[in-house]
Amino acid sequence: MPSAKIYYDNDANLDVLKDKTIVFLGFGNQGAAQAQNLRDSGIPNDKIIIANRPDHYAEDAKSKGFNVEHDFAKAAKAADVVFLLIPDQVQPRVFNNEVAPNLKDNAAIVVASGYNVFYKLLNFKPSQDVVMVAPRMIGSSVRSLYTKGKGFPCFVSVEQDGTGKALEIALALSRAIGATKAGAIASSAREETAMDLFAEQALWPNIIMLFREAFSVLKEAGCSDEALCYEMWMSKEPAEIFERAAEDGFIQQLKHHSTVSQYGQLSGALALDGKQAREHFKNILYNQVLNGKFCQEFSKIEADLEKEGDANPLNVLYQKSEETELGQAEKRVRARLAGLLQAE
Ligand code: NAI
Repeated sequence: MPSAKIYYDNDANLDVLKDKTIVFLGFGNQGAAQAQNLRDSGIPNDKIIIANRPDHYAEDAKSKGFNVEHDFAKAAKAADVVFLLIPDQVQPRVFNNEVAPNLKDNAAIVVASGYNVFYKLLNFKPSQDVVMVAPRMIGSSVRSLYTKGKGFPCFVSVEQDGTGKALEIALALSRAIGATKAGAIASSAREETAMDLFAEQALWPNIIMLFREAFSVLKEAGCSDEALCYEMWMSKEPAEIFERAAEDGFIQQLKHHSTVSQYGQLSGALALDGKQAREHFKNILYNQVLNGKFCQEFSKIEADLEKEGDANPLNVLYQKSEETELGQAEKRVRARLAGLLQAE
């Protein structure tokens, strides 16, 4: 596999956005950050429309001086470019019913996540451009890094080149939101979805499981809940380790630890052959993520995620997870700490 291409400011020409009407569908985490960055990059305010249902996000957009349109069909009719920045699970319903039928034949549609494009849940016309500009950062950082004159990591791709100019547009938009300053990495909806869902469904579940089991084993050996919570995460040591890994290197960060720790970690990790984990990971990647099985299952429960109490499957998963030894112990420790803090 060759190295990925990286695009910088010099690869992008903001002129291709001249006279284009740019619609942001959604003014949440990403929408608020990207719209403000784009405006601060010189796109005139009267060329930007925030399409948002009447809620506190719409009020926020108004308070920041944006033109807000509650009628999605009207906004879609005016759009040359439309950023889809509402939650992934509601995009198919809202886009396919209210936006797509009203979009120009040569409009550019921008997604910030590969999910709905990779699983073909959105209805595009072949003449339209579909691009992905996917910041690898939460919205508040997309905004704060831009205002500090810094870039942020971002994936960019062309998923459908209806006009023959999709890459130019994708790069200009990436530059306008501040994504090419530090380098936007050429990717694809497939790659982004595979990595994202793999992390969420394979890597992090294993990490949660390892912490849960480690907690129980050490508790059984006589360690207190308080000591365990602090030792394992409340001290923020794991957060610091990952921060060092990003700065110094995944392996080199170990040099900040004691020699006993370095020896234990390196020899311990090399002694684990990882075969079982590798098979498990492949199974999740090919038989759950890439073949669309998870997407189909998730689509079935999507409507239930708005429900209250046990009718919402996410609430049930939270309840079960909180019932584990780790979950119960942490609740006790946090309640006790809250008491101590109040007494101070
Ligand atoms: P969000 O959860 O902040 O979205 C809120 C916005 O969606 C508001 O404008 C709200 O009015 C609108 N909205 C919510 N439900 C709606 C509905 N039923 N009908 C119409 N509008 C509705 O969204 P977020 O987190 O900014 O995600 C947007 C996109 O950005 C997604 O594709 C996500 O995967 C992607 N992304 C998000 C990141 C993040 O930091 N949260 C990071 C990178 C990509």
